[in-house]
Amino acid sequence: MFTPSGAWGTILKDESFFKQLLKKSIIFKSLKFRIFIIVLSVGIIPAFIMRLLLIKSYETRAVNQRITDVTNQCTILCSRLEEAGYMDDTSDVRINDELTQLSNLYDGRILIINDNFRVIKDTYERSEGRTMVSKEVIACLNGSSNMSNRNKTYNYVEVTVPVTSQDGDILGAMVASAATDYIDVNKANLNQRAWVIEITVATFVLVIAYALSSTLLQPFDKVLGAINSAKEGYGADLKRVDVPDYTETREIMDAFYLLLGQINEADTAKEEFVANVSHELKTPLASMKVLSDSIRNEENVPVEMYREFMNDIAEEVDRENQIITDLLSLVKLDKQAAVLNVEQTDLGELLEGIVKRLEPIAAERGIELALKKDSVVMADVDSIKLSQALMNIIENAIKYNKNFGWVKITLDSDIQFAQITVSDSGIGIPEDSLNRIFDRFYRADKSHSKEIGGNGLGLAITRSTILLHKGSVRVSSIEGEGSTFTVRLPLIYEK
Ligand SMILES: Nc1ncnc2c1ncn2[C@@H]1O[C@H](COP(=O)(O)OP(=O)(O)OP(=O)(O)O)[C@@H](O)[C@H]1O
Ligand SMILES: [Mg+2]
Repeated sequence: MFTPSGAWGTILKDESFFKQLLKKSIIFKSLKFRIFIIVLSVGIIPAFIMRLLLIKSYETRAVNQRITDVTNQCTILCSRLEEAGYMDDTSDVRINDELTQLSNLYDGRILIINDNFRVIKDTYERSEGRTMVSKEVIACLNGSSNMSNRNKTYNYVEVTVPVTSQDGDILGAMVASAATDYIDVNKANLNQRAWVIEITVATFVLVIAYALSSTLLQPFDKVLGAINSAKEGYGADLKRVDVPDYTETREIMDAFYLLLGQINEADTAKEEFVANVSHELKTPLASMKVLSDSIRNEENVPVEMYREFMNDIAEEVDRENQIITDLLSLVKLDKQAAVLNVEQTDLGELLEGIVKRLEPIAAERGIELALKKDSVVMADVDSIKLSQALMNIIENAIKYNKNFGWVKITLDSDIQFAQITVSDSGIGIPEDSLNRIFDRFYRADKSHSKEIGGNGLGLAITRSTILLHKGSVRVSSIEGEGSTFTVRLPLIYEK
């Protein structure tokens, strides 16, 4: 016996082969193919059913007509039999002729049976004198009127009609059979013609189905074409192709270009970031190179100069170190892998700690640092990470302030959120920079940036940390007057 092996074996073993083929084959999944099949079925199946119904109805009508005809003829003959006293004497030539004619007409046979179930006349002359007890004859002699049945195997109908006296007594029965071959011949003819019509309709529907499935889906081909060309021209100046044929195709294209825009933006941001990182990392290295070269190239360098240059080099190393530390913490925050060690924290205390650490720096420039908190606000936060984030904001408020300016910090809360605001009397942020200051390496005031110092990473870290806490941070600012940063944090942290 053949046992399938390998891939075929697995296919055949698990599920029926055709089911698997159906699942695997791409063509069956194609919308074009499905529309084609639907149109084809809608066009052809009704035609097929109609043909069957038509032939069936013709057959029923033709058989009924035949039975009615034979019954009528037999009923007339039965009354003639009675008048002629045929049930007692079957020698009447005229009646016998009529019986023979009728059986010839219907290509059948006629039997006359008396009330003793004895056959007194058989147009085939085979059964005369014999007894015939059939269901129909019994029923007929017992008073049932006309009985009929159809024999499909031998293709005839049989009719049993009672022979009744004028008083209404049942004298016997006439059993007449009539051939129905012609019905089959007509059925075959009809069927043949219906097939011709059906094939013509099927061909017509086939063409329509193909044309319809192709035209209906043409816009989707356009969509595919547009997406493919976008794929090829990706990165270059992409020309937008719209497919407004259907609402659906228009929406697909809109969604596609939106996604493409986002991918492009992400790509540009990534490129910018890499460029910025390289630049920022190279700057301290370049300074170190200049400093060390100048000592190397000079002979008899005084110790003071060595010390001074080495100090400068150490500062650059610190800066490089700071950039790398900041970048690493950003990467960690980005990966969402950052695990927050959330615990109930008194935010007032946390802010006090930050203010305490920053006060000496503020004092150096005569900047007043004030914290206002009306009530105790407890929130689920990672105190170390949040401290760092808020410190960046307050540090900026001092850094980008005027000498003898002020920084005001407030802490408030409602049922759901804690709100911290940091306002300053500083240099402010230009409007076009407002939504960029949270970007990595972005520094708003290029002219002062160098002397103020910083890497442009502080606010990026702040925003990532606050987002990780499921909070938000906003900024408003007027150039030359000052800025206000508003941080909102949920009191209860839900993962
Ligand atoms: N309170 C503020 N007032 C004016 N400008 C501000 C203020 N806070 C931030 N900025 C602007 O936003 C930029 C980005 O701030 P961010 O804290 O990210 O970087 P940085 O302070 O320059 O460097 P880093 O914090 O990494 O040392 C700053 O360079 C500055 O131009
Ligand atoms: Mg900063």
